[in-house]
Amino acid sequence: MEEIYIKNFFPKTINEKGIFITFEGGEGSGKSTQIKYLSNLLSDQKIEHIITREPGGTDVGEQIRKVLVQGNIKKLDSFSEFLCFAASRREHLKKIIFPALEDNKIVISDRFLDSSIVYQGMVGGLNLETILQVHNNFCYNKFPDLTLILDVDPELGLKRKNINTLIENRFESFENNFHTLVQEKFLELSKIYSKRCRLINANNDKDFIFNEIVEHIKHYFTSH
Ligand code: TYD
Repeated sequence: MEEIYIKNFFPKTINEKGIFITFEGGEGSGKSTQIKYLSNLLSDQKIEHIITREPGGTDVGEQIRKVLVQGNIKKLDSFSEFLCFAASRREHLKKIIFPALEDNKIVISDRFLDSSIVYQGMVGGLNLETILQVHNNFCYNKFPDLTLILDVDPELGLKRKNINTLIENRFESFENNFHTLVQEKFLELSKIYSKRCRLINANNDKDFIFNEIVEHIKHYFTSH
């Protein structure tokens, strides 16, 4: 693997530093594996970073996560779901993401706002404006610097997840066309936010996918 070093590691606004990278995608798109690879690469290069996730990331967030990802699939409507995700996100930003960015670290989050836009919004029926208003009013209107969307064929993704062995199976248990819709909507989202979103073909093998990811983050770094 080619070595990468930090270049231009400076704030986009006066108050903020660090780089905020999010991974998004449907079930079984391989986000956690790729995040692990990226974390290993950054550690090898002695680049300070944190790995976090949504829902979750904080103690309260992990408790909210349990409410959201376990149990009956119909127990919450899209709005209640979104408010739970937003509450978790607000805490996550305050306690984990902003402090790490302030420390000039790279923050890598497994899912963030875009999951709400796709799952509760485009698929769940909540309008985008409502989601963005809540985000603006309660979640500091914070957007990632870079969003890597792992685009996987839903059938392959669900196979990868081996759904029968999961406890956290609320979202996975929606029927197949739900997952196809999620995939389509992530594609749509990548076009709406084309400046910060990069679509990655996640049907390929892990190393191949990772090389593509490195290509997309390289410009934040300088190579020797
Ligand atoms: P998770 O268990 O981390 O699944 P995965 O391994 O596929 O990332 O995520 C839990 C589920 O929560 C996932 O199916 C997507 C969903 N989700 C939303 O619907 N809205 C959100 O805002 C977030 C952050 C996640």
